[in-house]
Amino acid sequence: EGLDTCPFRGTRIGGAIGTPPQTDDWWPNRLQVELLHQEQPAANPIYKENYNEKFNALDFESLKRDIKELLVDSKDWWPADYNNYGPQMIRMAWHSAGTYRIADGRGGAGQAMQRFAPINSWWDNGNTDKSRRLLWPIKKKYGTHISWADLIVLTGNCALEIMNFPTFGFAGGRRDAWEPDRSTYWGPEFWNGKSFDESQTTGNYKGHPDEMVNENLRWVGGPKEEYHDLENPLAATHQALIYVNPEGPGGNGDPEDSARNIRESFKRMAMDDEETVALIAGGHAFGKSHGMVPADKIGAAPEAAPIRAQGFGWHNPVGTGNGADTMTNGIEGSWTPNPTQWDNKYLENLFKFEWKKIESPAGAIQWTPIDPEAPKTPDAHVEGKMNSLMMMTSDIALKVDPAYRKVCEKFMDDFDYFTTAFSKAWYKLTHRDMGPKDRYLGPEVPEEDMLWQDPIPVRNYDLINNADIDLLKENISNSKLTISALVSAAWSAASIYRHSDKRGGANGARIGLEPQNTWDINRPKELNTVLETLKGIQTDFNNEQTENKKVSLADLIVLGGCVAIEKAARHTGIEVKVPFTPGRTDTTQELTDIESFEWLKPVSDGFKNYHNDKVGYRVPPERIFLDRAQLLSLTAPEWTVLVGGLRVLDQNYDYSKHGVFTDNPGHLSNDYFRVLTSMDYEWIPQDTNEMHFNINDRRSGNTRFTATRCDLIFGSNAQLRNIAEIYAADDGHQRFVHDFIAAWDKVMMLDRYDVRQE
Ligand code: HEM
Repeated sequence: EGLDTCPFRGTRIGGAIGTPPQTDDWWPNRLQVELLHQEQPAANPIYKENYNEKFNALDFESLKRDIKELLVDSKDWWPADYNNYGPQMIRMAWHSAGTYRIADGRGGAGQAMQRFAPINSWWDNGNTDKSRRLLWPIKKKYGTHISWADLIVLTGNCALEIMNFPTFGFAGGRRDAWEPDRSTYWGPEFWNGKSFDESQTTGNYKGHPDEMVNENLRWVGGPKEEYHDLENPLAATHQALIYVNPEGPGGNGDPEDSARNIRESFKRMAMDDEETVALIAGGHAFGKSHGMVPADKIGAAPEAAPIRAQGFGWHNPVGTGNGADTMTNGIEGSWTPNPTQWDNKYLENLFKFEWKKIESPAGAIQWTPIDPEAPKTPDAHVEGKMNSLMMMTSDIALKVDPAYRKVCEKFMDDFDYFTTAFSKAWYKLTHRDMGPKDRYLGPEVPEEDMLWQDPIPVRNYDLINNADIDLLKENISNSKLTISALVSAAWSAASIYRHSDKRGGANGARIGLEPQNTWDINRPKELNTVLETLKGIQTDFNNEQTENKKVSLADLIVLGGCVAIEKAARHTGIEVKVPFTPGRTDTTQELTDIESFEWLKPVSDGFKNYHNDKVGYRVPPERIFLDRAQLLSLTAPEWTVLVGGLRVLDQNYDYSKHGVFTDNPGHLSNDYFRVLTSMDYEWIPQDTNEMHFNINDRRSGNTRFTATRCDLIFGSNAQLRNIAEIYAADDGHQRFVHDFIAAWDKVMMLDRYDVRQE
């Protein structure tokens, strides 16, 4: 009644764009191919601008000065604790970066995703909306010269610096997203003990927006199993949460349990024990927690808040709603006597005193010193008032866990060591997802290479020229290496790149190093032969040079792919040249963190029909395949054309013939698409799970080919089938070869930030 009744005709007006039910409501199992087409230029008002140039033209020192001034200029609409916004800005920056997970490289500070749903509305991110809004005058002044993503991290650094902490460095170069990211699986979340679905349907909307109390939108952590019973194997690769519940798992107040969850959760953020303690103990040297008001009085999160709130959420109706009445997480108090100064008091007090559990004014579990002599900490707003120190269950965890305890003791003994450890861990946390150092901008980029940056040595020799390239191609062509083997080596090297954190790729020739050189998915025996042969060609070529010219193995691996594809096209009567951009260099085993590279190994990969049916997956293989295509930043046509080409070039990891719908493997024909779209065949499942299929001739009943779900999806999904038809058509072969080569080149160049810009 009222709002949705047409005032003119007296009838109800139907749904506008986006009104449910939508296609996804009707057909929830449809493969959402359109997820490949997020971040459209059309959504970005400054798409045409070159951010690197903009950033480099910035007066970086003046920007930092302005930020530092703003941090100590308290505003009435959100008064600063201790007259210093520093601590809340550190938390904002930490939360921005802390969504990173090493398993698929998604999350992280890279695109300022904290501005959009769902992250902007996570209970964990309470009042970070205020932190970002406080920064608006800076963003306004510097405009497109500084992205939100860079500004959030830089402000974290400035905050640390004004509180006398020496930061390790800062790099700009993060490009903002312009819409919510819909590709990241954040895992099941539990809202007030209910599943998300339940909480949505039992919403508590009573008519007026302010009465939408958030009891159903209060995130209370996953059930305990969330961290220990990993979804097999995807949950190991997809974390559910930024980090852990400060009150212990499920709010159980148990520090030992909490320690286990901290370890698991920080491991997925790619942090070891020392880095974890450094980050928590370092971060909580600053600021305070806010818990003056029970959570059920607090208004809805930003995405659900009334329109007049203008992007703000968590309306607090008590007192002034801010300052001394602030409610963020629910725990109340600060960890140290001087929360705006870098010192070692967090650890010293944590260990010097015994702590007991009490309840905050908001009803949350927290800890207070038993000893009445323990130092007090000044109130953040009321002059002259002194409060007891506070620890969270997750802080006590550092004391009770034996391994964490050891690290704490080392940090207590050696404050400089602790300072350096936190400094480096903060740099890693906030830059982890930026990819190659070629992307780093600005005057504060440290000289030192870190192992987590997957370093690749800078070229110190001359590049090969076109004549050299022709000669090398001839040498590869004259070797005994097959088309399939050469394509496999190049594709395997390049296609582990992931656009999420920009790791992986052909540069560095890491395909020849542990662990990649032994992955079953890379056909290791054959790969070894290819690499040995190419190394021979490399050595001969380099020995023949009189000047300081060399070819790298990484370039030869990619060039091998070019040779093979040109041959395969020639077999079908098409003369083409596959683009090749030299300049890759070779890295070393010492510069390769084996453990961290293991995470790049796909658990399932439709490009090579790699899937272990014996492992329990939560989703069918084609969904994981879509995920991989998204990580490679492919469009649906690129994804489709690459699969069609790789199949006829015999790229299955186990040399099986699934999807090799051709009598002439090694020929770059459009046979894959012609068979896929032909009504001469029907598809018969080979197993009850419908993982494998026979393709039978409808008339004779003879089995012509076999296939997997990752093949059939290109004929079954409407969007993909329409693309397949383009390549299957009688005029489709030329187009197929052309588009395949373009998509192939794109993949080969994905990690080349030395010559390309995003
Ligand atoms: C504040 C939890 C790790 C920096 C807080 C608050 C909670 C919390 C509940 C209070 C929020 C509020 O009510 O205002 C945790 C947990 C962690 C963790 C459970 C991991 C086990 C970190 C790390 C950093 C950090 C790694 C940075 C390196 C801060 C800062 C504040 C804060 C600076 C104070 C914010 C302010 O004064 O407004 N943390 N935190 N925390 N956290 Fe953490």
